[in-house]
Amino acid sequence: MLRQLLSIGCLFLHAVHALAPEERAQNTHNVTVVGTGYVGLTLGTCLAECGHQVICVDIDEEKIARLEQGIIPIYEPGLSDLVQSNTQEGRLSFSTSLEQAAEKSDTIFIAVGTPTDENGKADLRALFKVVEVLKPFHDRLICIKSTVPVGTCNYVKSQLGSEQIVSNPEYFREGCAVKDFFEGDRIIVGCDSSDGIKVMQELYAPLTDKGMPMLITSLESSEMIKYASNAFLAVKIAYINELSQLCEKVDADVLEVAKGMGCDRRIGKDFLKPGPGYGGSCFPKDTVALLDVAKSNELELQIVDAAVQSNEEHKRKIYERTIQKLPPMHEAQVVTILGLAFKANTDDIRYSSALGLISALQSKGISIKAYDPAAMHHTQAQFPDVVYCQDSYEAAEGADCLVLLTEWEEFLHLDVARLKSTMRTPIVFDTRNVLDEAEYRAHGFSFEGIGRPKH
Ligand code: UGA
Repeated sequence: MLRQLLSIGCLFLHAVHALAPEERAQNTHNVTVVGTGYVGLTLGTCLAECGHQVICVDIDEEKIARLEQGIIPIYEPGLSDLVQSNTQEGRLSFSTSLEQAAEKSDTIFIAVGTPTDENGKADLRALFKVVEVLKPFHDRLICIKSTVPVGTCNYVKSQLGSEQIVSNPEYFREGCAVKDFFEGDRIIVGCDSSDGIKVMQELYAPLTDKGMPMLITSLESSEMIKYASNAFLAVKIAYINELSQLCEKVDADVLEVAKGMGCDRRIGKDFLKPGPGYGGSCFPKDTVALLDVAKSNELELQIVDAAVQSNEEHKRKIYERTIQKLPPMHEAQVVTILGLAFKANTDDIRYSSALGLISALQSKGISIKAYDPAAMHHTQAQFPDVVYCQDSYEAAEGADCLVLLTEWEEFLHLDVARLKSTMRTPIVFDTRNVLDEAEYRAHGFSFEGIGRPKH
């Protein structure tokens, strides 16, 4: 069903479902989800798809008004269709009033942002504001979905004077959040009340019925699992990125190395793709927040610290390599950036490698032309001097080097001859190893990937 959902276009909105009616929950709940960012909106919509009655709440009136019209604020494959079908079928609604929504609900998820503050700490102000409003509703089951440092759920529990607290971190990825919700590896429920656990079992029954494991832990372990998982994945990526640099020096191919390593089930094949450095709203923020928790406990997490530094260094090397590739010119050099989002299938640019690269190149007087299928409106304010283009060909026109930063599917199918004819100097730097190197070389491009042997 899910594959069908993700491949069906908007033509069949009424028919689009991730679950068949008989797969929905038997024991349904009235749920409020606070925060309509990508976590809250995906969670609320998918819980409605599971058969529950869901109200998504946000303080942003314009956002809620647009959601009521079926206009979703983020680019997330499959989500818009599910928002529309669940709204039409009466399971999903939107509100700006937390009190009114909480009044009607037995379970309240808090999914507001917990960004990093200037000291690297998780900024919990938005979360605590919500908790304050929820004080009169302490008899409801309160579930903390936001990523929060260990101890936060217990603190919230003491603030609310309630036993009914659950830590239920989210594990879906942007760009495939709907698919990950229905086909994820696990549900973690930190809870020490049997009533709370029962509600969580009922809420997620459509997923656990299909075999998704639910792990019940203490509040603290659940909070820690979230940070530990994201930090581990960040370490894995930083590791393969460092290896990719070494592979280049010794003429090994990082793709073969990653494949060989991934065959070992103890290592696993996922998250071993070298790239331009990890970004997004989670890994950069959560690694730093975990380091801060360690520091507060007079500990150093040296491996996580090394991954954070290694990622920064890797991003710097991407810049240096771009500069090295540029031919000397009397006039301003032009670099084309393909992809501004931190990864494909999202319009999110938070901590995207594109941001640092663009500012570093611009500070050298290099002109930037850019194209991204979904994220350009997010970079326009920060980089007004970038020339934003309608497509990859327009972006490549007159350029001296094309740097592919995001692995959007459409970049894999470019007409290479047309690209060649439009660039001033045919140089391609594929930081995701997704382009067909042989084809680019056959058309006369100077081509470099990441961690690949030199030709
Ligand atoms: C990450 C986690 O993967 C999710 O499990 C978690 O729920 C989410 O954070 C969160 O805490 O909310 P996300 O940030 O959406 O998800 O994206 P990822 O797919 O994990 O990618 C993160 C970064 O790593 C991207 O910049 C991506 O391009 C990079 N990456 C990923 C690589 O460079 N190589 C890889 O092999 C995988």
